[in-house]
Amino acid sequence: MRRRAPRLAGWVAALSCLAAVWVACDRAPGPGVLPSSLSPVPTADELAAYQSWVARAAAKGMPISRLYPTKSMNPSIIRELAIPEGGVVADIGCGTGGVEWALLDQQVPFGKIHAVDVEPAALDFVRFTLDTARPARAADIELVLSTRDSVRLPPNTVDVALLLNTPIHLNAGGLTGPDLACLASLFAALKPGGSLHVYDTENRRDRSIEMLRTRAREAFAAAGFTLMREEVVSLDDAPVAQRLATLHSVWQKPAR
Ligand SMILES: C[S@@+](CC[C@H](N)C(=O)[O-])C[C@H]1O[C@@H](n2cnc3c(N)ncnc32)[C@H](O)[C@@H]1O
Repeated sequence: MRRRAPRLAGWVAALSCLAAVWVACDRAPGPGVLPSSLSPVPTADELAAYQSWVARAAAKGMPISRLYPTKSMNPSIIRELAIPEGGVVADIGCGTGGVEWALLDQQVPFGKIHAVDVEPAALDFVRFTLDTARPARAADIELVLSTRDSVRLPPNTVDVALLLNTPIHLNAGGLTGPDLACLASLFAALKPGGSLHVYDTENRRDRSIEMLRTRAREAFAAAGFTLMREEVVSLDDAPVAQRLATLHSVWQKPAR
């Protein structure tokens, strides 16, 4: 009996340690899904959880893009952009940076990415993911705080632009002066012959594919773009019955 007591105490101590580790792991956040935009703005606790997911994924060598919803970093979007080697990309309405991470993770040989948004909190979020995971090409991603009426990019510098669920042309009241000015500034930023990819997803209330097609045709033609092609695709990985369709339209700034 005298010999068994220390052994029993040892087992009890070991089991308590295991239980403590189990409880700690259970409470630790994620990895989960990062938000694609920041409305509503996350609480300090949520931000801390996101930061810990990014840090853990980076420590494990896991692609950071996998932390984003599929519709924000879908590999089919990256393929469609067909970014030329050294090409300059402008992601207008970059949100929390899913596309930037997909381009980094897939080692697309871009020259530079302008990650543009009107929301300072969105750009802060992209910055904190870059500062946390420290990708080798972080210096080639420029965060640009734009305004409702300008993308704030230098003229004739962009090879490929993207509007992924960025609703500049989808105002319920129709195109406004600032919307038109914003699209005109995007047109000016593209190099002649440069392309613009627009992805707009339907909803079950007021955005049918037909409505999205009409709005896109009206807005981008008014800004001077030429329509190259349109297709209906699916970007999310929800069960088939709940999946929403997305209109992908490709526009070009005419070559001189
Ligand atoms: C629904 S989120 C999409 C984010 C990201 N593109 C994605 O799909 O994961 C739309 C983003 O567009 C930004 N946005 C809206 N209007 C804009 C404008 N005129 N110029 C730049 N960004 C804009 C919003 O701040 C928001 O971050």
